[in-house]
Amino acid sequence: MTETMSAADRIAELRRTLHEHNHRYYVLAAPTISDREFDALLAELELLEKAHPELDDPNSPTKRVGSDLDSQDFEKVAHSRPMLSLSNSYNAEEVYDWADRVQRETAGECSFTCELKYDGVAIALQYRDGGLFRALTRGDGTTGEDITDNVRTIRTIPLTLAPEAPANLEIRGEIILPFAAFESLNERVVAAGRDPFVNPRNTAAGSLKLHDNKEVARRGLDCFLYGVELEDGELDSHSRGVHDAARWGFKTPLTLDRAFERVNDVAGVMDYLAHWNDARHGLPFAIDGVVIKVDETVHRRSLGSTAKAPRWALAYKFETEQGLTRLIRIDYQVGRTGGITPVARLEKVFVAGTTVQNASLHNADQIAQLDIREGDLVRVEKGGEIIPKVVGVVLEERPADSVPHVYTDRCPDCGTELERAEEEARHYCPNALGCPEQIKGRIEHFASRKAMNIDGLGDKSVDQLWTAGMIRNPADLYDLTMEPLLTLDRMKETKAGNLLAGIETSKSVPFERVLFALGIRHVGETVAKRLARHFGSLEALRAASKEALLELDVVGPVIAEAVLAFFADERHVAHVERLMAAGLRFEADAEVAPQGTALEGKRCVVSGVFSMPRDEVKRLVEQNGGKLSGSVSGSTDFLIAGDKMGPAKREKAERAGVRILSESEFIALISK
Ligand code: IVH
Repeated sequence: MTETMSAADRIAELRRTLHEHNHRYYVLAAPTISDREFDALLAELELLEKAHPELDDPNSPTKRVGSDLDSQDFEKVAHSRPMLSLSNSYNAEEVYDWADRVQRETAGECSFTCELKYDGVAIALQYRDGGLFRALTRGDGTTGEDITDNVRTIRTIPLTLAPEAPANLEIRGEIILPFAAFESLNERVVAAGRDPFVNPRNTAAGSLKLHDNKEVARRGLDCFLYGVELEDGELDSHSRGVHDAARWGFKTPLTLDRAFERVNDVAGVMDYLAHWNDARHGLPFAIDGVVIKVDETVHRRSLGSTAKAPRWALAYKFETEQGLTRLIRIDYQVGRTGGITPVARLEKVFVAGTTVQNASLHNADQIAQLDIREGDLVRVEKGGEIIPKVVGVVLEERPADSVPHVYTDRCPDCGTELERAEEEARHYCPNALGCPEQIKGRIEHFASRKAMNIDGLGDKSVDQLWTAGMIRNPADLYDLTMEPLLTLDRMKETKAGNLLAGIETSKSVPFERVLFALGIRHVGETVAKRLARHFGSLEALRAASKEALLELDVVGPVIAEAVLAFFADERHVAHVERLMAAGLRFEADAEVAPQGTALEGKRCVVSGVFSMPRDEVKRLVEQNGGKLSGSVSGSTDFLIAGDKMGPAKREKAERAGVRILSESEFIALISK
């Protein structure tokens, strides 16, 4: 507050500002300040209002918990009990203070539960007579919207409960969109020529409001439970409720290593915070903090709630992941499919534990929308995404001589004039077969893990082989021999031998991955898999008409055209024929799942993200005599580890001497 500004003026100003940010956040889903900045303003307003009760206003932003009631479309229904918010904390000291107060007020008798703060959309699930009766959004906390039809499509939400479950109960939880589902949705959206979704949370929120529950079902939403309320009677404790709910059929955080812990004191809480501060980066979905709760119902009752949030719970938010820095210039990169990505070159700034110098700028529209210019002071954010992005410009700091940025019209690598199809947000370099960056990118993609998985062939070696003139396309890899390789810098016999062995092994990679490896524009992993299974061979796919391609639900006109265009180019056909001659697989396997006794009596834990649905991996375990268990312990025999498995689980397995199998090792074992 400036000295000249009266408390009344500042209160009015804060209320106006906060109302505006609430609207941006909840209604427009386009916040312009961070949660931390918002909370700081709200805290300032709360303090001023406390000091000036005469200025009270029932409509102050401090009196409400926000609203997502933005549509007229879904039926509004009153909540059985208000859906409150959480008080936030941002550092250990605030957590100590809260825990101290709570311990004092419960005469040191309470214990705490620690769980993740899922970054998704709150949901209230009402069960009547053991069946899902209604699912409500949080709305304004008092009234929510009935989105039962959409929620029914989420597979981790049980429609009927185990017989021992109480007849009537309410579950509260968070609906999230895991990163893998978000990425495959974006793959689909981009293939259809639309702009990708920006982050999983907003996409989850948008998905739940769709009027097409088939589409909702395809998106791969998931749900974590964080609260259990009985209609008749009461649970002794939260942890008891969570364990019971797992038995009644709910997906609870107990399925994930250390996602839910009951601790006796604040030291236990701190240990949990320290663990997730690092481990959060390995999770397959976004979280924005940790929630600490008093466990016992009796203590919760005595602590009570304010109008906004319970006193028995506290959210701990991880470090804000935003930084301020100068934009030095905008560069352009060309990807393997010719797509141009503008990149912001920044003055170094430290954000969320790493130094950021480059950030993504998406496309020409985004640059125009932000009106971002060289020399601007910009806000950089590092969210769940790995690549930081520029989210805003501090216009007040703009240099007087700045000029609007003019988007490039030439390929940064080969200088060819760029093209932009009307329905696409991106510019493309059309020189697919002559642009070195595109060709190298395609070879890197070809060799990458999810494609041909050629060990020892990363960006650097591709660059080295390219510069030496040894490869001009992926088929050239299969002509490489030991002798010429040994003439390369730092290429000794072992390294060259490994590379050649990796290339040889890749010949047995299944057709669906070979198809993905070809790098046909818009044909990502999922689409390649479906095309391979549907058509069965490259010959059949090559002969397919547009109508035949469009029969697949994952194929829209953009993908169909891209496939046709690929095979219409004789140079692609000649390349594919060389790969065929090299012995790569261009026919799909008949779908026979290995069945046997390779895992007879073995205890297996399945964790992470696989190339097939996780349930399929579990089915294979059982089909081969294995027994499934949810968490790693001393009696576990195998941990079958997919991508994005939390590091904690791996450590635990290593400590317990459990054998860890990758997806391919697992398949090899059961295929023996
Ligand atoms: S407990 C009355 N536990 O965070 C307290 N909330 O900022 C009820 N959230 O609206 C919330 N993970 O949607 C709780 N483990 C968790 C949570 C969690 C995410 C969300 C929830 C709530 C928001 C409050």
